[in-house]
Amino acid sequence: MYNRRAALAATAAAASFALTLSACGQNSEGGSKEKAGGTKGATIGIAMPTKSSERWISDGDNVVKGLKARGYRTKLVFGEDNPDTQVSQIENLITQGVKGLIVAAIDNKSLNNVLQEAADAGIPVIAYDRLILGTEHVDYYASFDNEKVGRLQAGYIVDKLGLKDGKGPFNIELFAGSNDDNNTKYFFNGAMSVLKPYLDSGKLKVGSGQTQLTKVTTLRWDGATAQRRMDDILTSSYKSGRVDAVLSPYDGISIGVLSALKSDGYGSGNKPLPVLTGQDAELASVKSIIAGEQTQTVYKDTRKLAEVASAMVDDALKDKKPQVNDTKTYDNGSKVVPAYLLQPVSVDKSNYEEVLVKGGYYTDAELNR
Ligand code: GAL
Repeated sequence: MYNRRAALAATAAAASFALTLSACGQNSEGGSKEKAGGTKGATIGIAMPTKSSERWISDGDNVVKGLKARGYRTKLVFGEDNPDTQVSQIENLITQGVKGLIVAAIDNKSLNNVLQEAADAGIPVIAYDRLILGTEHVDYYASFDNEKVGRLQAGYIVDKLGLKDGKGPFNIELFAGSNDDNNTKYFFNGAMSVLKPYLDSGKLKVGSGQTQLTKVTTLRWDGATAQRRMDDILTSSYKSGRVDAVLSPYDGISIGVLSALKSDGYGSGNKPLPVLTGQDAELASVKSIIAGEQTQTVYKDTRKLAEVASAMVDDALKDKKPQVNDTKTYDNGSKVVPAYLLQPVSVDKSNYEEVLVKGGYYTDAELNR
């Protein structure tokens, strides 16, 4: 028996459940009202962080598809990268009577109170891609092997620069994601585990001297913020010499870094563009890779992630144990959250066709080839 739902018998929770059921009836999209406690036709709330990055739009659409295929109705909201907005959106979803929640957090620590409300209403919560911290009221986590994402990015830099063949020294600059996203440290630590021997031996040098995670994060993964930081680094630390590689954790950041590099003359004359990583295989970045600018991205098939999350919420609501493949890694400070982790794939000019086009992620027309 799903323990949260059992807890509904408790008085306060029962009152809140009655409210959610009636609200659900009012907000239904035409189907008949489900039996109390049943799941058929129930509405699932989906809270995505922002529409400013295309991946989250696809994630949202794919989760809707996965849930509709399982007979659910859905309410999809985007928090426009504002943690307070996301909290009130989730509150509204609970009031509207959703039976389950799938949440990609904006700020991993801002959801404790609202998830307490979800727990009181007997609503299972799936953390989507980003782990939610500091609360026991997160039931399952659907994501990718986030450390491996970082290892793929750094491994790519090592290979491209020929570091294993003893080449070097080279200059590298490091970028990390948003400090309020739990994934950030996994990406960064994964990458640094690969780069460390070369940083220690001096085969890689960080011209800016900025090597600590706290010095290299990019609030809300914002490309313009990354661009400004890269501008500053180029001005202050590369009056002579040039950057050979940039560790970027995400395509939006890579595009910002690329703009700064091009403004500084990289990509022409005797200043070739550095090896530049990324993540998410966003359309602009795949086009940039085809054009020979950004060098690599880490592809995470959001169709699969959406499928995992949809199956998790469905199972949780049917009192079945969702499939997980990791019960150790993701401690959120209150508990280790059982997770299903998918595998990320490194993509560059040599394999984007095989992976992204043949894999049905993008069509030729979308890539303008
Ligand atoms: C992370 C996610 C990345 C990237 C980034 C910016 O949480 O794992 O794939 O999308 O957010 O949106």
